[in-house]
Amino acid sequence: MLSRPRRNRKNDAIRSMARETSLGPQHLIYPLFVTDGKKIKEPIHSMPGIFRYSTDLLLKEAEECMRYGIRAFCLFPRIEEKLKDKTGSFSLRKNNFYLRTISALKKELPEAVIMTDVALDPYSSDGHDGIVEDGKILNDRTVEVLVKMALVQAEAGADIIGPSDMMDGRVKAIREALDKKGFQDVSIMSYTAKYASGFYGPFRDALDSAPKFGDKKTYQMDPANAREALREAKLDEEEGADFLMVKPALSYLDVISKLKDITTLPLAAYNVSGEYAMVKAAGMKGWIDEKKVRDEILLSIRRAGASVILSYFAKEWARDQAR
Ligand code: PBG
Repeated sequence: MLSRPRRNRKNDAIRSMARETSLGPQHLIYPLFVTDGKKIKEPIHSMPGIFRYSTDLLLKEAEECMRYGIRAFCLFPRIEEKLKDKTGSFSLRKNNFYLRTISALKKELPEAVIMTDVALDPYSSDGHDGIVEDGKILNDRTVEVLVKMALVQAEAGADIIGPSDMMDGRVKAIREALDKKGFQDVSIMSYTAKYASGFYGPFRDALDSAPKFGDKKTYQMDPANAREALREAKLDEEEGADFLMVKPALSYLDVISKLKDITTLPLAAYNVSGEYAMVKAAGMKGWIDEKKVRDEILLSIRRAGASVILSYFAKEWARDQAR
């Protein structure tokens, strides 16, 4: 035999020379759930190790993450049911706790990168990402609200705007509005290929944001489709996105890989709540080695082509490396 691939695996030093993919804290964005109030740290039962924080404790949590090298955070608000309405008006309310949290983070941790969420579902009495009329999700009227949301978040200090809603044309509308108001330097990480997925269940527990009727199939993508993701990517690129995101990550590694081949923009992937919950649950039962599986999953998403990964594992992964 002239070629023996095992020679490149014979010890750790050689394996590390041959290694094709790396993972570091710079590749991770840590999603954080914010709730109104003080001194609140509420566990989310379907996401062991993940909590909803009031602003004061969220600042502490982010500060701890920064010590482990995690510098980017994505914030999601949990809104009380009585503050929700058809148009998600709480999202635009001056100085609401979500906007205050963005500003507080930027003030206390100026080096942190703050990504925000643009979509109606946390604020919507219908639990949908857009405005609902006669059971339909209205695209263009929703985009008008999304634009306003992006602007108040940019004013509060957001570094990256993350439209997670899947309405058509929203990236362009947001980009133009940001530029007009002098926010040329605020980035857009577009949820480009976001699938109508069963893997979002625990996230909807965390925010109490499950749709009150129907599903999200008229705006989120069909899990059967990969070529359609290329179409979405082309549009988002033309509309001015800075990053393209695939979500969920694990069942869509092929989509990440396909997008990698056609775009010159950096790719993000969202290792979503259900993917996290499965690993945690099997780990707690002793059925898998949780950390080994976690590391393998994160590496696989990088290998598929993602530059950056939003993951609930970010903090514990980084803490384990720092030890
Ligand atoms: C909705 C949104 C969802 C997630 C982030 N933003 C869920 C949904 O579309 O219902 C899911 C994230 C996760 O599961 O971790 N705009």
